[in-house]
Amino acid sequence: MPLIRRHRDEIAAFQARRRGRPSLHSLVVEEIRPLTDDAVLVAFTVPDHLREAYRFKHGQHVTVVHRTDAGELRRSYSICAPAGSGGLRVAIRRVPGGAFSGYATEQLRVGDTLAVLTPTGRFTTELDAAAAKHYVAIAGGSGITPILSMTVTILEGEPQSRVTLLYANRSPSSTMFLDELEALRDVHGARLSVCHHWSREAPAGEAGPRRLGPDSVRDLLERCPPVDEWIMCGPLGLVQGIAATLEEHGVDQNTIHQELFTAAGVDDLTNGHDRPLVHSEVTLRMDGEDSTLTLSSRGVSVLAAALPLRPDLPYSCSDGICATCRVKVVEGQVEMDRCSALDRAEIRQGYVLACQAHPISERVLLDFDA
Ligand code: FES
Repeated sequence: MPLIRRHRDEIAAFQARRRGRPSLHSLVVEEIRPLTDDAVLVAFTVPDHLREAYRFKHGQHVTVVHRTDAGELRRSYSICAPAGSGGLRVAIRRVPGGAFSGYATEQLRVGDTLAVLTPTGRFTTELDAAAAKHYVAIAGGSGITPILSMTVTILEGEPQSRVTLLYANRSPSSTMFLDELEALRDVHGARLSVCHHWSREAPAGEAGPRRLGPDSVRDLLERCPPVDEWIMCGPLGLVQGIAATLEEHGVDQNTIHQELFTAAGVDDLTNGHDRPLVHSEVTLRMDGEDSTLTLSSRGVSVLAAALPLRPDLPYSCSDGICATCRVKVVEGQVEMDRCSALDRAEIRQGYVLACQAHPISERVLLDFDA
C-alpha cells in the first residue's frame, strides 16, 4: 500500500477510535476454509498499521461490506477468534437467497479485498485472571461464533475458570467448529465440557436426538450448580426461552449475557401507522459536521433517509440488533421501530438506533459524536 494511503488509513482509524466509532478499511482475505457443507471460515490479513484499530474483545463483531454494481451489501459477523490472538476471522453460513452469504461462500477467493468495519459490540464479559468461575455458554447454530471466541478467551485468560458449552445443531455435519471444539477439550481437559444437542441425530451412546431448550437448562441447574455467568447467542426462540427459564429460577439478570444473530421474531416497539404525522427537520452531527434533512415521522428511518447525504454514517445490520448506528438524541424526540441492541441505561441516557428511529417532534438533533 502506498505510504500516503497507509498514513491516511491510520489517521482515520485513530480518529474514529477516539470518538468510540468504527472505521472502514480494506482488508485482504488470507484464508477461506469450509466449516460445513454450507459455511466457510474467512480470515483477513490485518496490516501492522491497523492492528490497534482491529483489536477486539471476545464476543464482538465486524461488519463486512461488499460493493457491487447494484449497490452495497453490509453484513455483521461475530469474530470467531480469541481476543488478543491477533487473528481476525469470521464464519459465514449460506442463507437461502442471501446475496452476501451466497457471494462469500461461492465466489469469494483468497487474495480478494473486502471493506471491513473495525470491531464493535457489547456482547462480552469482564476478564479477571484471578477468577474461578463456572460459565455456561449456550449456542444455537451460527451463534457459536461469538461463543467460541468467548470460550477460548475465558479459558486462556482465567486459568481457574471453567466453561460448560451447550451447542445446538441439526446434526454433526451441520455443526461448525466440531473438530476445533474437540481439540479445545483435549487442551483444557475438565475445564471445558461440550454437550452437543443434535435435533436430527442421536449423540453417541444416546437413544434419540437431543434438543436444546429450557429443559436442558433446568437439568443443568440441578446437576452442576453453581453457575456464575451465562453467555448465549442464537435465534430468538432459543435465547428468549432460556432467558425466561433462568428468570423463573431466580438467576441474577446481571449474570446473563445474550445476543441474537437475527432480528427475525423481535417484536416491534411501535407501529408506524399509529404515529402522529410530523414533518420534522432532522439534523445529524458527526465529526463536528451538521447535515440537515426534512423527514416524515411515518417515512423511512433516519439512517435510511440520511445515508445519501452522509454515506459515512456508521451502520451495519439496519435491523436494530448490532448497535453500530447508535446515536444520541440531543434535541427533540424520536421513536424506534424495534430495539434489541441497547440496554436500559443507554436508552435512559438518550441513545437510539438511527436505523430504527423516526422523528416525532418538529426539530430533532442527533449527535453521533456524543
Ligand atoms: S445498523 Fe445495526 S442496529 Fe442499526
